[in-house]
Amino acid sequence: MRELTAVTLPTTMRALRQTSLRGPQDMRSITDAPVPSPGPGEVLIRVAAAGVNFADVSQAHGAFGNGPRPPYLAGFEGAGEVVAIGDGVGDPRPGTCVTGVGYGAFAEYMVLPARAVLPVPPGWTAEQALGLAVNWPTALAAVKILGRIAAGETVLIHAAAGATGQAAVTLAKHYGATVIAAAAPAKHEIVRALGADHVVDSRSDRLAAEVLACTDGGADLVLECVGGDTFDASLRAAKRITGRVVVFGLPGGEAALTNWDLVYRHQIQLLGVNIGVLAEAAPRLFGALMAELGALLTAGVVRPGTPGTHDLADGPKVLAELENRTTIGKLALLP
Ligand SMILES: NC(=O)c1ccc[n+]([C@@H]2O[C@H](COP(=O)([O-])OP(=O)(O)OC[C@H]3O[C@@H](n4cnc5c(N)ncnc54)[C@H](OP(=O)(O)O)[C@@H]3O)[C@@H](O)[C@H]2O)c1
Repeated sequence: MRELTAVTLPTTMRALRQTSLRGPQDMRSITDAPVPSPGPGEVLIRVAAAGVNFADVSQAHGAFGNGPRPPYLAGFEGAGEVVAIGDGVGDPRPGTCVTGVGYGAFAEYMVLPARAVLPVPPGWTAEQALGLAVNWPTALAAVKILGRIAAGETVLIHAAAGATGQAAVTLAKHYGATVIAAAAPAKHEIVRALGADHVVDSRSDRLAAEVLACTDGGADLVLECVGGDTFDASLRAAKRITGRVVVFGLPGGEAALTNWDLVYRHQIQLLGVNIGVLAEAAPRLFGALMAELGALLTAGVVRPGTPGTHDLADGPKVLAELENRTTIGKLALLP
């Protein structure tokens, strides 16, 4: 491991440790976590800001596919300065500000894979770059790369006032779509300000009927990241045969769908995505996605984020608020 010459790294640090599968209530603030050491192909960053994602809540309940088992250092999205590099790393150089996805982001230091980090865009703070590694790529995959939105089409976006949802509304409007945004009524002004054409109450049991009432036979694309009872409403809201439903989250729980359903009830195109699997299993598609994201950055469509910031020690409370649906937009923890 090579360190930035001017920096002497401590051996221990503050962090949040998940101690059970009972959720964020069992996330503990500790002061004696060992500062990790970057292995070959890895970099160590001093975390300036850690992104909070719904997956952190799922992980805390043990409901995240292939998630870590407790006890583990929580958080996976971080941004900050590279302070040490592992063997074989030529880029990024120490001193560079980057953002990316690894383990243990709710801490003062974290390790990231060098090949997957993104430079913080010039003029942006680390905090403003949160979302570039998770929310924007996921929204872009769902809206464009897999969802194949075309100008003039209609898209139903669930959790539209959330971090990923706001990115999706922005992108869908950029590509010329009509947006139906589902969110809690208290969040409707936020999505209207982003350009949503119609708003629906995310908890209404008339959600599918309302979408059918304002479309010609249903939405061309549905961004399904809720699950539970809403999953069936999403399938009913999609246009028969040509409608695409991209499934990428299930805070409302699992929902069943049979081959009978697809033949006789919901004749729609169903796509599932996890952004990490997309990057690993379809590197060319992911490369095209990231190139498009770069172009959107240059064009000013993707702008510096304005996350709601909280002290690291408040992480468990922030995660509980995310789980209880009281948050809006991107959230960040500052160590
Ligand atoms: N597959 C992937 O790679 C990937 C990557 C990023 C995110 N995601 C998924 O995208 C979704 C949004 O994630 P995010 O991190 O951006 O969170 P977020 O949207 O900022 O927050 C979650 C929002 O989801 C809505 N929601 C609907 N049903 C819910 C329920 N039963 N419990 C809690 N919230 C519910 C709530 O908005 P309203 O109250 O306004 O309805 C809530 O505020 C999640 O499902 C997440 O797992 C998936």
